Amino acid sequence: MITDYSERLIVQEVAPRDGLQIEPKWVETADKIALIDQLSLAGFSRIEAGSFVSPKAIPALRDGDEVFRGIRRQAGVIYVALIPNLKGAQRALEAGADELNLVMSASQTHNRANMRMRCEQSLAAFGDVVALARGTTLSLNGSIATTFGCPFEGPISEDRVLQIVDAYLELGMQGISLADTTGMANPRQVHRLVQRVLSRVPAAALTLHFHNTRGIGLSNVLAAYEAGARRFDASLGGLGGCPFAPGASGNICTEDLVNLCEEMGIQTGIDLPHLLKLSRQLPDLLGHEMPGQVAKAGRNSDLHPAPTNLPG
Ligand code: COA
Ligand code: ZN
Repeated sequence: MITDYSERLIVQEVAPRDGLQIEPKWVETADKIALIDQLSLAGFSRIEAGSFVSPKAIPALRDGDEVFRGIRRQAGVIYVALIPNLKGAQRALEAGADELNLVMSASQTHNRANMRMRCEQSLAAFGDVVALARGTTLSLNGSIATTFGCPFEGPISEDRVLQIVDAYLELGMQGISLADTTGMANPRQVHRLVQRVLSRVPAAALTLHFHNTRGIGLSNVLAAYEAGARRFDASLGGLGGCPFAPGASGNICTEDLVNLCEEMGIQTGIDLPHLLKLSRQLPDLLGHEMPGQVAKAGRNSDLHPAPTNLPG
């Protein structure tokens, strides 16, 4: 298959959710709202703005209700909320989320660590969420965590992932995300699985969620794009990680991804200078350096003055 690089790549920004959920420092509600409001001006069509999970499980995002109520919504931006169960869906609906991201792991062990329940219990809870969403304008996306490998169980079979894709579609979910929770995916694996999933769902309904835990994140994006995927999660600064997965680290970095796309001529519609400005504010907000690289190195077009002592 010859890749058409003129096809737009859609980036869903997940720093307010995946990014902040693992941060040890409390981020004030007003600062979360300000971050989301700034991200809303960067050209994203989708922002995962928070989660509605147990405040004991993820204390950093316990103010999701106030955050969703406080943001200044931009037309054309879909504000997504991650939820694990019916209670989360009810909270998200009341707070005004546009879309629910329902998460379960392909691996039984990671689901028990992350969601404190077995996969069957998660799926049963999702049935209740689907019933709640019926008759509302909420759209539903089903995420499969540990799709490409589990830090407890190791490899995950493709058939297991496809089974869950089918279960999500049967439940009536409009979107599917394949998540590489701890950066275990490799480009060949990604290419193969994306092709198989795209025989079941259109590219407009499939999102890839990569973490850069082993430095393979952007390679996986290209492999997925070349296999036909067009939607990707990424996090400003490269923040992120699941607190219930040992060794977890940041998502692929949004500005690094957008820079890659610009250099290759793939349209994203995202304002890279604006993103870089936002990313460079994160160390002050969070008290540590970011893993993202373009914010430190600058863009290719950020040239330096030539040394003055060059030989003739
Ligand atoms: N929002 C807020 N509170 C919730 C909640 C939700 N979505 N779901 C459950 N709770 C509360 C219950 O009301 C109960 O409160 P109480 O102790 O004051 O009575 C408490 O949490 C325990 O409820 P229970 O149903 O027994 O949950 P649990 O302890 O078995 O945990 C989850 C299950 C799914 C709620 C929890 O594991 C969780 O939130 N996991 C999400 C982890 C996460 O976000 N990971 C990263 C993203 S993938
Ligand atoms: Zn993640």
